[in-house]
Amino acid sequence: MNIYPLLKPLLFRLNAEAAHDLTLHSLKAASPLKPLISVLSGSTPQAIPRKLFGIEFPNPVGLAAGLDKNGVALHAWEAMGFGSVEIGTITAHPQPGNPKPRLFRLPYQEALINRMGFNNDGAAVVAQRLDRLASAHHWPKIPIGINIGKSRATPLENAAEDYLESFRTLFPYGDYFVINVSSPNTPGLRSLQNTEALKRILCAMLGWESRKPILIKIAPDLADEDVIEIVELAERERAAGLIATNTTIDHRLVPHHLDETGGLSGLPLRTPSTRIVELIKKHASLPVIGVGGIMQAADAVEKLDAGAELVQIYTGFIYRGPALIREICKAIE
Ligand code: FNR
Repeated sequence: MNIYPLLKPLLFRLNAEAAHDLTLHSLKAASPLKPLISVLSGSTPQAIPRKLFGIEFPNPVGLAAGLDKNGVALHAWEAMGFGSVEIGTITAHPQPGNPKPRLFRLPYQEALINRMGFNNDGAAVVAQRLDRLASAHHWPKIPIGINIGKSRATPLENAAEDYLESFRTLFPYGDYFVINVSSPNTPGLRSLQNTEALKRILCAMLGWESRKPILIKIAPDLADEDVIEIVELAERERAAGLIATNTTIDHRLVPHHLDETGGLSGLPLRTPSTRIVELIKKHASLPVIGVGGIMQAADAVEKLDAGAELVQIYTGFIYRGPALIREICKAIE
């Protein structure tokens, strides 16, 4: 039984952020009832184990960063069949994000636009939450990635220290970590994709502790030369891999009257993000997690064919629900 087709029309009547909050609160409350969540999301996808940067993933379909920023519903995602969950973006300081409304559906384009602005509880509070799970021996069985961003209040020149602070606070709880320098919704953040700034952040983190994989999440809007520079830096400085891509600021595929400032995700992002996966793979053998516009199984196959080792979904999950996880696993078994 998959109840998402029944829930979706009700959720889509609410404004997008209210629907998001209601879903997350319900999943948080239902998190201890894993078997019930599994039943209500339909049958569990078959195991398609993948090993990447030393971590066993039960299947290659992960939940992308941004949906469960504070890590409140980890067991629910596992029960739905996700092969991994990336929480965050988490910042060193708690912050409310941008004023609402800041999340918009574009149903005809199968897309979303968001300018959330890293609303999150802050690294210390999330670490306490994760610590409670670990101490109660309730840790989920799927890998947990932790995506870190710069606090809005921290000047760009102090970015490395800010990322390091979150990394140190959250280090015990992540199987892998992600340096997010690609969100369009924190002023100046994407300028940290320049290799000097990025090198400072990566080296600060790896210099403190290099036993866990650190990945870099990049934007789809970079020039090819900039992508190649980041790839070379990542290889040279021993990042574990790249996540391609974040949302796009290129809104040309969105009708003018629906346009809102922010990052565009979903179907219009599919081809641009696949192109970045291909570009990375042309220049390096670094592992890549492919994300952007995966709305059906064939779109995940496209990312894997382009060279991605794993995929993640966000907008596709909003439009299709947990059935999409199963559909992808079936297509690639
Ligand atoms: C995101 N995404 C995102 N990424 C990130 O690294 N940190 C974040 O906090 C967020 N927040 C966020 C909020 C919302 C509402 C959306 C829709 C997206 C980006 C997300 O992880 C993913 O990279 C893109 O959305 C592209 O994938 P999809 O949505 O096309 O599957």
